[in-house]
Amino acid sequence: MSDKKILCLGIESSCDETSVAVVNSDRQIMSHIIYSQIPQHQKFGGVVPELAARAHILVLEDVTRRALADAGVEIDDIDVIAATAGPGLIGGVMVGWMGAVGLSQATGKPLVAVNHLEGHALVPRLTNDTPFPFLLLLASGGHTQILLVRGVGDYELIGQTLDDSAGEAFDKVAKMLGLGYPGGPVIDARVQLGGDATRFKFPRPLCDKPGCDFSFSGIKTAARTFLEKEPNRPLSDEFINDFCASFQAAVVDSVINRMHNALRDPRVKAAAPKTLVVAGGVAKNTAIRAALEKMAAELDMQYAAPPLNLCTDNGAMIAWAGLENFQLGRVVTGPVAPRPRWPLTEL
Ligand code: KG4
Ligand code: ZN
Repeated sequence: MSDKKILCLGIESSCDETSVAVVNSDRQIMSHIIYSQIPQHQKFGGVVPELAARAHILVLEDVTRRALADAGVEIDDIDVIAATAGPGLIGGVMVGWMGAVGLSQATGKPLVAVNHLEGHALVPRLTNDTPFPFLLLLASGGHTQILLVRGVGDYELIGQTLDDSAGEAFDKVAKMLGLGYPGGPVIDARVQLGGDATRFKFPRPLCDKPGCDFSFSGIKTAARTFLEKEPNRPLSDEFINDFCASFQAAVVDSVINRMHNALRDPRVKAAAPKTLVVAGGVAKNTAIRAALEKMAAELDMQYAAPPLNLCTDNGAMIAWAGLENFQLGRVVTGPVAPRPRWPLTEL
């Protein structure tokens, strides 16, 4: 490959962020625009797919123009166009994907169909230059999985949630407490106020069992039961802070228990990954980051987590995954149908 930098324009629209970024093969984020729809969904307590798709249509062109302008480039300077083709809310995915197809056809630029989860999975290679193989905790609003990442497009599923995702657990518990949407950041902030994590005895589902799967529905049910038993309304700040601290501690314990088990999995042992990686929206969580960093240090492993703004959905991770796939020649050669479900193991 020549020394010329490759520029990739990446488009993300699978949930409630319309985001476009220009990233180059020297691992520089040349521009990064994130238009978040969170305020539009907040009054409904979660993302409304129809509203999301419409909002993506309204802003995608403008966000794309601004990403090019911020990078100081024209569309002609771009070498490859990448967009999320799934998994996600299908209306939104279609908006971004069809925009990318149109741009590619109008300019003759190659196109990469990026799996959104691969975007989350590879972003630590953009920011930390993390080498393969690595053991990844991918925790977001839609997914909670432990993956052995052997290479681009080469994922082995080691464990996953049997019910809710970690992000959903944060969002639902926050909703029960009347803390609004999204729940993760609010709960995280409450815990930092210094709640008592021992006050509520949340279960640690599956932690006494072998294997690497997660279950968060039991934690959620326990939350509902604790709340039903509390007679005082409105809930006091002390109650809420203790509740958040106790809930978050249960999630952290589950994560660490499952990650330890994952390292004992024969497939993981054989691959001998040297780095523990956390990615996805829940990777923003202060306690989860700290616990995984500590675990890595104790095991003499490296630890990598994307900076906070690259944990939640963003165009830079899609541009980077597009670039890595492009460098391996994995470009679109025919029609691609956007997919609401698209497991990483089916790449
Ligand atoms: O990756 P993401 O932006 O969207 C999906 O692909 O799902 O993840 C969003 C999820 C939400 O459930 C949100 O509550 C959670 O990430 N989240 C957090 C934190 N910040 C965002 N969860 C725990 N702690 C946080 N600080
Ligand atoms: Zn995501």
